[in-house]
Amino acid sequence: MHCASALSFAQPDQQLNRTMTRLSVNVNKIALWRNARGSNFPDLEQVVCDCERFGAQGITIHPRPDQRHIRTADVLSLSTLVRTEYNIEGYPTEAFLQLMEVVKPHQVTLVPDAPDALTSSEGWDTVAQADLLRLVISRLQYAGCRVSLFVEPIAQQVEGAATVGADRIEFYTGPYAEHFSTNPKAAIAPYMQAAEVAQANGLGINAGHDLNLPNLEFWCQRIPQTLEVSIGHALWVDALYYGMENTIKLYLRAIARGV
Ligand code: PXP
Repeated sequence: MHCASALSFAQPDQQLNRTMTRLSVNVNKIALWRNARGSNFPDLEQVVCDCERFGAQGITIHPRPDQRHIRTADVLSLSTLVRTEYNIEGYPTEAFLQLMEVVKPHQVTLVPDAPDALTSSEGWDTVAQADLLRLVISRLQYAGCRVSLFVEPIAQQVEGAATVGADRIEFYTGPYAEHFSTNPKAAIAPYMQAAEVAQANGLGINAGHDLNLPNLEFWCQRIPQTLEVSIGHALWVDALYYGMENTIKLYLRAIARGV
């Protein structure tokens, strides 16, 4: 399968339009839905093509060891299909690293999840895990991948990400989303400080987890240097009500309003 039309993707950070945060759509939920009935319905490849056609600037997947949503075959088939940015999240097991060395996605986002984790719910301890991270980051970079580390907004952890050689960090935005409705300014404050630390250390900034239409615009206003947001759960829930094309455009507009 080939996507009929898609945006071209400029890879190196210096070629990115730094004033606009990119939307990477996480398609795990589509694979989960497909797997529920054992047939190829919904068709993940078609959905990926349509996400790009409707304006998504990246596609994110998170293959987990139990393959409950994205399967190894999906990782491979999407590698020739995705025309924007292909971002693969995962814990760096030997099997995951070998798969990344074959697929060579534009970006690998490393997460510290246990194999049976329901979803990512904490960032790396980049200091305690420095030896492991240094090794796997250099291996992935050697394969041609940009490497981003999922971290919490703690200065020491952000500095640690730079020390081990990461290209970017992805802020774990779960706590931001949780506290946004009661006190948005307090919710974003630690991320704004940590974003300055990231920039001072030469790290690009991504963000993800529990971002949604209400909290995305404020995030992009306060941290406009965010290069990419990866969004799945809320976006697909919104798509049930607004449709896929409208929903992706609503998210793109929320980002544009924030910048
Ligand atoms: N970033 C990481 C590292 C994740 O594990 C996930 C969930 O797969 C996301 C971003 C997207 O989170 P959500 O599905 O809540 O938008």
